[in-house]
Amino acid sequence: MTSLWLVMSIIALGWLPGLLAQTSLNFVKYDVIICVDSSVTIGLDNFRALLKSVLTEYIERWPIGEDAVKVGVIAFSTTLEVISMTGNLTLLEQKVPLMYYEGRSTNTHLALDQANTMFMSNGRTGVPKALILLTDGRARLPDKAFEYAQVLRNNSVSVWAIGVGTKYSLWELQQITANITRVNSTSTFSQLTPIDLGIPLVQVESSTTSTVISPATTSTAVSSSTDIAASLTSTSSVSTTIQPNTSPSFSIFR
Ligand SMILES: *[C@@H]1O[C@H](CO)[C@@H](O)[C@H](O)[C@H]1NC(C)=O
Ligand SMILES: *[C@@H]1O[C@H](CO)[C@@H](O)[C@H](O)[C@H]1NC(C)=O
Ligand SMILES: *[C@@H]1O[C@H](CO)[C@@H](O)[C@H](O)[C@H]1NC(C)=O
Ligand SMILES: *[C@@H]1O[C@H](CO)[C@@H](O)[C@H](O)[C@H]1NC(C)=O
Repeated sequence: MTSLWLVMSIIALGWLPGLLAQTSLNFVKYDVIICVDSSVTIGLDNFRALLKSVLTEYIERWPIGEDAVKVGVIAFSTTLEVISMTGNLTLLEQKVPLMYYEGRSTNTHLALDQANTMFMSNGRTGVPKALILLTDGRARLPDKAFEYAQVLRNNSVSVWAIGVGTKYSLWELQQITANITRVNSTSTFSQLTPIDLGIPLVQVESSTTSTVISPATTSTAVSSSTDIAASLTSTSSVSTTIQPNTSPSFSIFR
């Protein structure tokens, strides 16, 4: 009897961490809206790179689900293109990379106003809310942008901003977030700075940052890289996936 109890306890303890991990992921609820600048200064290629980064570096690292993290995306220029807040990751993966590039002016205020409408109409009661603004330039009507950002903050939305490239105004982003620690910047469109919303990150395979080395190219790849931890031989019959040291944060998960 005692030994059976012991065995059962051990089994239960073995399951516990897994159950806890699953439970905590499932109960992280967050409503997030990401506003992406599609104005002329950014250019089509940078816009596409930015959307891809938004997907791989933010959205795909969150536990997306109808009862977990829901995300909406707004591409803004003279007009807006909107993906409503959803917990459907497949839908986001299909739609985000294909958002329309308008290439006209930077109507940041329209995006912030639209985001507020979306939070008010589709936001979940009692669920924390965040807005992330990604812009490479200056708002066409900064005072209106500040006002709509204030409306969001008044509605308990935490407002974050990342200046992308070199032409954004740090001062303007600080006015929009009203919190200097919620502003950051990045010089490239293909790599974003992390935003810590307190959401536990999920592990993802990134096809963009992991390098697949096939047997045919193994010898050159190994000799040109000092960072490869795995030992490879030219007779290896399987291809090996290697995360190079140059990919920054794929080993960091909370
Ligand atoms: C999620 O989106 C995909 C692609 O639009 C769709 O095929 C699928 O039915 C959606 N899933 C749910 C549960 O709505
Ligand atoms: C935000 O709330 C403050 C304090 O209640 C109020 O004075 C201000 O007018 C509000 N601003 C906006 C833009 O709603
Ligand atoms: C500013 O942002 C940081 C990071 O989210 C947060 O911890 C802090 O409480 C914020 N400060 C104010 C005054 O809202
Ligand atoms: C900005 O991003 C850098 C690089 O990811 C990070 O080290 C830094 O802590 C961030 N700053 C703020 C204020 O979040």
